[in-house]
Amino acid sequence: MYLGIDLGTSSVKVIVMDKKGVIIDSASSKYPLSYPKPLWSEQNPEDWWQGTADAIKRITAKNEGIGEQIEGISFSGQMHGLVLLDEKGEVLRPSILWNDGRTQKQCDYLNDVIGRDKLSEYTGNIALSGFTGPKVMWVKENEPEIFEKVAHILLPKDYLRYRLTGDYKIDVADAAGTLFFDVKNKAWSKEMTDILSIKPEWLPEVYDCYEVTGVVKKEVADELGISGAAKVTGGGGDQAVGAVGTGTVSNGVVSVSLGTSGVVFASVDEYKVDKDNRLHSFNHASGGFTQMGVMLSAAYSLQWWVEEVNKDIQAENPYQVLRDEAEKVPAGSEGLLFLPYLTGERTPHADVNATGVFIGLKPVHTRGHMTRAVMEGVGYALRDSLEILKDMQIPINEVRITGGGIRNELWVEILASIFNEELSIVEASEGPAYGAGILAAVGCGLFDSVEKACAELIKVSKTVKPAKEDAVVYEKYYHVFKKGYDQLKGIYKELADI
Ligand code: XUL
Repeated sequence: MYLGIDLGTSSVKVIVMDKKGVIIDSASSKYPLSYPKPLWSEQNPEDWWQGTADAIKRITAKNEGIGEQIEGISFSGQMHGLVLLDEKGEVLRPSILWNDGRTQKQCDYLNDVIGRDKLSEYTGNIALSGFTGPKVMWVKENEPEIFEKVAHILLPKDYLRYRLTGDYKIDVADAAGTLFFDVKNKAWSKEMTDILSIKPEWLPEVYDCYEVTGVVKKEVADELGISGAAKVTGGGGDQAVGAVGTGTVSNGVVSVSLGTSGVVFASVDEYKVDKDNRLHSFNHASGGFTQMGVMLSAAYSLQWWVEEVNKDIQAENPYQVLRDEAEKVPAGSEGLLFLPYLTGERTPHADVNATGVFIGLKPVHTRGHMTRAVMEGVGYALRDSLEILKDMQIPINEVRITGGGIRNELWVEILASIFNEELSIVEASEGPAYGAGILAAVGCGLFDSVEKACAELIKVSKTVKPAKEDAVVYEKYYHVFKKGYDQLKGIYKELADI
């Protein structure tokens, strides 16, 4: 048996999986997220640990004898969060999370003064406010009394590893999102740690995501009701481990995730960097590399449209009502476009000031047109990342689609036609927690490699083909959509400055 732990932003989910990859049970715990100031987003690492321990204990209490059979444990974790510990291993301040936007000044310094070319050379990436490195600078500049006590830097899920094993260790896929990791050479970057005033002894030891990093401490195993011999495997950031959960591990396989945010994730054998760093260049949990584009408001755009703008709809399922109206509207929404930048945008614009916009409204347009335009706008924005992959000559042999949004079949059909690609849907629905279970199984030697494990455990259950005539229409509108951001960039800035 293997435990897969997915440390998310709103909750932690734990699954227990047998040797055939069947999920035997799962449990989750929620924890608070605090926004102490505008743009800030923090969590308390102790809450992560309590939530995880509690979920594991519920599983072992409910399934008699299962705890003793647990051979391996691994993780998927929210990426980029900064966890600072003192020399006794005590948490120094709340963790600053991936969606915290306080570091614009530090990012501007890194990108403009140190320079994008240098950052890209040292790490494969440029500074974004979500990444860990700018947060270290922020603490040094704003909380010097805390910075002087720092003895260890961890990422969120590695704090769980520390509580389980007592080890300060990390994997390559999560380390890649720090901006002080040399992705190409799979090692901490001396240049970047110097720039950020990070001492080498603060850094955890780096492992591949499928390598064993240690074993659970006896007293912790007893408390959780699991075997003291359980091995802990590297694990990784949620996107890489989620990609393992959907079998996106071979060269040329791309996954598109339609979650609150939207992610285009390509698995690639060779290290590559886009000339303008439009995609994140990270290490993959399979041992290779990835190119990843993140749009911030994907399923969230439809959620806003349904639950906020149309909250007065009197129906049991307002999503269904709006979806049915949208289905009657022709592809392209009769010339109505939506730019889905409700919470700013990461890929490809990296602009916190970008906002949502409808373009092309005419009297002919109804609520159904607007709903369809929202779904199409998310599709065009995801296509932006696919186009960058093509531009970088990264093969796209298969596109797998995942995430909560795919329950909306119309949306999946729209995306297939906008991308003009057949989309595959896989059977496994547990995503990153399942990917973590697979990494634990590989670490314990059940499979020779992550790729082999995925080939055995993950099956495509359905494919959705593009509709030819719709694809022709979308092609034309996509080219107009692409110009939308550039035309509005100045206006976004002016609005933000008022
Ligand atoms: C990846 C990213 C998110 C977070 C939270 O770059 O920012 O996937 O890890 O889920």
